[in-house]
Amino acid sequence: MKIKVCGLKHPENINAVAALQPDYAGFIFYGKSPRYMANLAADALQTIPASIQKTGVFVNESAENIDRLIVEYGFNAIQLHGDESPEFCAAFKGRVTVIKAFGINEDFDFEQLKDYANNVDLFLFDTKTKEYGGSGKTFDWAILDQYKLDIPFFLSGGVGLENIKEVKNITHPQFYGVDLNSRFENEPGLKNIEKLKEAFKIIKNKTQQMKYGVNEQGYYGDFGGAYIPEMLYPNVEELREQYLNIINDDDFKAEFDDLLKNYVGRPSPLYHAKRYSEKYGANIFFKREDLNHTGSHKINNAIGQILLAKRLGKKRIIAETGAGQHGVATATVCALMNIECVVYMGEIDMVRQAPNVARMKMLGAKVVPATSGSKTLKDATNEALRDWIGNPVDTHYIIGSVVGPYPYPDIVARFQAIISQETKAQLLEQTGKELPQYVMACVGGGSNAMGMFYHFIEDEAVKLVAVEAAGKGVNSGESAATTALGDEGVLHGSRTILMQTEDGQVVEPYSISAGLDYPGIGPQHAHLFKTGRGQYVSITDEEALRAGLLCCQLEGIIPAIETAHALAQLEKMKFEANDNVVICISGRGDKDLDTYINYFGY
Ligand SMILES: Cc1ncc(COP(=O)(O)O)c(C=O)c1O
Repeated sequence: MKIKVCGLKHPENINAVAALQPDYAGFIFYGKSPRYMANLAADALQTIPASIQKTGVFVNESAENIDRLIVEYGFNAIQLHGDESPEFCAAFKGRVTVIKAFGINEDFDFEQLKDYANNVDLFLFDTKTKEYGGSGKTFDWAILDQYKLDIPFFLSGGVGLENIKEVKNITHPQFYGVDLNSRFENEPGLKNIEKLKEAFKIIKNKTQQMKYGVNEQGYYGDFGGAYIPEMLYPNVEELREQYLNIINDDDFKAEFDDLLKNYVGRPSPLYHAKRYSEKYGANIFFKREDLNHTGSHKINNAIGQILLAKRLGKKRIIAETGAGQHGVATATVCALMNIECVVYMGEIDMVRQAPNVARMKMLGAKVVPATSGSKTLKDATNEALRDWIGNPVDTHYIIGSVVGPYPYPDIVARFQAIISQETKAQLLEQTGKELPQYVMACVGGGSNAMGMFYHFIEDEAVKLVAVEAAGKGVNSGESAATTALGDEGVLHGSRTILMQTEDGQVVEPYSISAGLDYPGIGPQHAHLFKTGRGQYVSITDEEALRAGLLCCQLEGIIPAIETAHALAQLEKMKFEANDNVVICISGRGDKDLDTYINYFGY
């Protein structure tokens, strides 16, 4: 059942309602309504996520005014609540979702709706009053049985917490959703968020969904969504509409699997690290993403997204990169597919990950320095988003982690899920059990961790350990320990947890590892953290570098400094002798040799 919240007019209240993820948000343009939003600036609606249909509500307004307001406020839907004719409705159909409202009483003649059937997308049935809605009164819902057309309808008029359970019992085949308005207010136009939350809970019955997965609106619990500028709506909407069809298509799967096997070199080994196991008193396994072509897990997602971009008909690829691994992976797949590639990278990261800059250039990509802010990953992401806004039609943005507006976090997680999919089968083969006691990974935006967790998330017996970068110490002022220091807010298009000042400015992060030097985490991680499903910890630069060296000396593997953060966490854990523990070795340390050399003085 869809939810429409109608009669919004105060900017802060609009944001609070948007965070509840209704399907439609209604703004009333009718001078006689106490909810008239005449003074609301058009940009107050810009922060509303793309998943919410912004709906202008009009009563006998002129077509010229409606046209103008659609453009000014970026409405995706209009609700015509007066005596508009079928022809009047038809003029808007196809451009926006057209909802025609009717006041219903016991004498209502449903026959008159036939003339509208081809000219509107939805009906809305409200209680008949002189005031064109907003009365708070109900009508006898049994009358709806007389409605026989196949256009879906919203039910409106007097829906409140008192009767919401009865609404849920309506079984009419065209019952599409419910319109929540005057009974959820502190005063006309000011919505009562607590009451709305209660209603949403009852309607959506959230417990029936997968506990930790994404819902239809692109949210993981309180996090996710698509908070994007108007200009990006078409791109993100195109992706949202098509990604599942494309990636579930048999041809796509065959090409993806073939490239993972024959180009990337998958499956990556699950290596039983014997000296580590001895040292830490448990069975420690390394999932060797460092052995992938290009040296990290990032290639899994890059392959998936280039195939997606091709099927969307895109001619140009942009990407952001921190450690350069995602940039290299993207430049690689662009070379493979002969597609133009532009990679944005923070100026500081270009220095500390210089070998990867050279690699990207050799692969034919243009590397553009991001020179604002801390000149690291956050700033590169800003530049890439800016590029996308300027080139919305032919360009696909390959985001490198489980961050960004929905559907990106889900797309990237699905492409990285191969990590846990293989791990399960390999554990079964090597230990006789497919579920380990622990899976562990480092977290920048969180893509290798999400890949490592994906197929274990709903098995609550498996503990998920995510390791962030504490830089020079969590409270040193130079850190990227997001969950320890952060708060809920919006970063790079999704609602998540991020490091921010009291007035919402993003705090510049710091970590010695470019790939973890990011002020946020993906929305699914925020959800795992908030619900307590995942354990989120942090490791300093120094602890990570020492752990990296230990891995060289005990196992003959030079890990990326990002990965070394996950390895360092082993020092702080207490295991039972039979515990099976899998650590994602997200990347190899070649790119970090200078940093290791400078620190240890080799
Ligand atoms: C080797 C390696 N591990 C981890 C990360 C962190 O990214 P994510 O959290 O998306 O896995 C990066 C990012 O560049 C990386 O290169």
